[in-house]
Amino acid sequence: MTPSNSLILVLSSFFLFFLVLAREGHTLDRGEEEEQAIDHHYHTLELSSFLPSSTCSPSTKGGKKKGSLEVVHKHGPCTKFSEDMVKPLTVEEVFSHDQSRVDSIRSRLTTSQPITTTRKKDAKSSKATIPAKSGSSIGSGNYIVTVGLGTPKKDLSLIFDTGSDLTWTQCQPCARSCYSQQEPIFVPSASTTYTNISCTSTVCSGLTSATGNTPGCSSSTCVYGIQYGDQSFSVGFFGKDKLTLTSKDIIDDFYFGCGQNNQGLFGGAAGLLGLGRDQLSIVSQAAKKYGKVFSYCLPSRSSGTGYLNFGAGGAASGVKFTPLSSSQGSSFYGLDLEYIYVGGNKLSISPTVFSTSGMIIDSGTVITRLPPTAYSALSTAFKAQMTQYPMTKALSILDTCYDFSKFTSVKIPKISLVWGGNTNVDIAPQGILYANGISQVCLAFAANGDDSDIGIFGNTQQKTLEVVYDVNGGKVGFGSGGCA
Ligand SMILES: *[C@@H]1O[C@H](CO)[C@@H](O)[C@H](O)[C@H]1NC(C)=O
Repeated sequence: MTPSNSLILVLSSFFLFFLVLAREGHTLDRGEEEEQAIDHHYHTLELSSFLPSSTCSPSTKGGKKKGSLEVVHKHGPCTKFSEDMVKPLTVEEVFSHDQSRVDSIRSRLTTSQPITTTRKKDAKSSKATIPAKSGSSIGSGNYIVTVGLGTPKKDLSLIFDTGSDLTWTQCQPCARSCYSQQEPIFVPSASTTYTNISCTSTVCSGLTSATGNTPGCSSSTCVYGIQYGDQSFSVGFFGKDKLTLTSKDIIDDFYFGCGQNNQGLFGGAAGLLGLGRDQLSIVSQAAKKYGKVFSYCLPSRSSGTGYLNFGAGGAASGVKFTPLSSSQGSSFYGLDLEYIYVGGNKLSISPTVFSTSGMIIDSGTVITRLPPTAYSALSTAFKAQMTQYPMTKALSILDTCYDFSKFTSVKIPKISLVWGGNTNVDIAPQGILYANGISQVCLAFAANGDDSDIGIFGNTQQKTLEVVYDVNGGKVGFGSGGCA
């Protein structure tokens, strides 16, 4: 028998090629917005609201949501993570990680999955570069939730990700490698409810679609491997255990990856919670209990809290739905964007621009990506309504930027997106601008390289919205004011 360590080593080099995600990001932190009732096509914002807050101010609205998990920004003051665990990122890092995530999503949608010999070779060469990368935590999303795993249950903070399926956490004995995480690393042998999954079980073969990699086998235990866009990865045993979401939301026999070889910083998080559409995601695994319905709200400020809720109970009444399209792969949630309004004016963008690119909603991409033709129309319309403010240099991928340093408050046009089924969604002011200090505040949308690239509705633009995923019902809903 091959010792499991060396098998894992071999397998991990196989798995280095595949990608999933990236993300990061500080977005605009802002406070109260004062709207002038007469001017409902504009938001008026106080400049002080552009400064980040260093104290955690939990959203009373989200916090009161019964039976939901609290969602916090990974780099905000509400995490329990120590500062050396989660180094603040520069704006350049935020956007370069974000671009890696976008690139990896695109490659997952366009490349075929089988691991070929050529890829194995590539994988080996890319492995050599891993230590040089800061691990840059691409796999580290902006938002995390804390769940309980095993018996007795251990708390683990996981990155919240609608763009991937497999849930995994680092596991002792970390046969090859574990990165440093905030909470103690999960010890499967200390959990009375943990079981390894056998290589011959059908759930083991489900890993192929959930991870993009064919599972391996070690001493008859199923071995998974998943690789993210920045060369971070997790490889280990596929197991099942009891997952405690909240005191009354418990999933017995939850299948997850017990990582023995984990690389990347993942920002001190213990692993990842896969909320994608594939059969192994938590959404699918808990389908009997929650009917493939979940909802979340991402807070407006990194110092606020949002929620993640499973099941239909408690969805607000004002939520408007748009059909879910299944043409964007087995993991992603596809939506159809139809129109964009800026300051009450509908942009003239041919509907074929959006139907050609397609669009997904993703919790891990920071900045919404639009086909260049659509972005250009958006930027032009925004600029036309912002002529009273001096423009300034681009901020990485954001090219429509203003210097607000001479102002105490600013008036910006509202932006709304109209989704299939005529579902109009107003973007919160925190989703319109991204501030790098008050002297460089930019329109928080970016263009793809090509009109054929998939559009992505990112997490900055989802802030404060209650987002409801009803997978069996084939729809996604948006409600305003889901959290503060
Ligand atoms: C799971 O399987 C692996 C490989 O066979 C083994 O090393 C490990 O001890 C098993 N873990 C548990 C908790 O049974």
